[in-house]
Amino acid sequence: MQPAARIQTFKPRRGRYSTQMLQGLREGSARVTMDALTAPAVLFDGAPVILEIGFGLGEATLAQAQAHPDHGILAIDVHTPGVGRLLAELDAQGIANVRVVEGDALELLHERLPDTSLAGIRVFFPDPWPKTRHHKRRILVPSNLAMMARVLRPGGFLHFATDWQQYADEARATIAADARFRLLAPAAQPAIASAATRPRTKFEARGIAAGRSITDLVALRT
Ligand SMILES: C[S@@+](CC[C@H](N)C(=O)[O-])C[C@H]1O[C@@H](n2cnc3c(N)ncnc32)[C@H](O)[C@@H]1O
Repeated sequence: MQPAARIQTFKPRRGRYSTQMLQGLREGSARVTMDALTAPAVLFDGAPVILEIGFGLGEATLAQAQAHPDHGILAIDVHTPGVGRLLAELDAQGIANVRVVEGDALELLHERLPDTSLAGIRVFFPDPWPKTRHHKRRILVPSNLAMMARVLRPGGFLHFATDWQQYADEARATIAADARFRLLAPAAQPAIASAATRPRTKFEARGIAAGRSITDLVALRT
């Protein structure tokens, strides 16, 4: 059995591969392996590094990389088709400040990334695991939040967005209970981590179409 801190947060999915995705997987120049992640700033010539966990199709990654060219984005997902798409789009659009990892973000958080190595963490529309017996699979649980606190530098941000009200309430309580984080009111959220400047992704659009409301939580590492 896996230790509690490493309960799997995703359900392996099959995917269809477009020509673009296959090309991205074959030739994408932004791909890095877990082993390369012991000193993430080196990948971006010393620029501040933001980790995006579970980028899906990478819509937010692409938009935010262009909006903040002075930051590096380390984007990780387990879903191979999305990895291929993002790799292909990065090369097609000439975006140089993103590195893409295919793998489990929990391995990065718990084992790979050094202390205080990140300027920010983004978790947008993580798998909600709505059934009560599955809540332990959610990525924002105290044991994972503790690792986020470990890898964020003081003043670094955590930006979490969800369309599941119960998950939002639970995440807010989890963050509020950890003295290493200070939740920010919407008006105090910096542009780099605000709901207003986060592009709408496919998963967000799906939630809105289903009548769900969106919650953005932004907290600073104290
Ligand atoms: C519901 S989708 C949201 C995707 C995207 N952030 C968006 O807003 O459209 C959640 C994504 O997180 C990924 N994921 C879940 N657990 C993960 C983990 N432990 N490590 C890396 N990716 C993970 C899934 O593969 C999926 O692509």
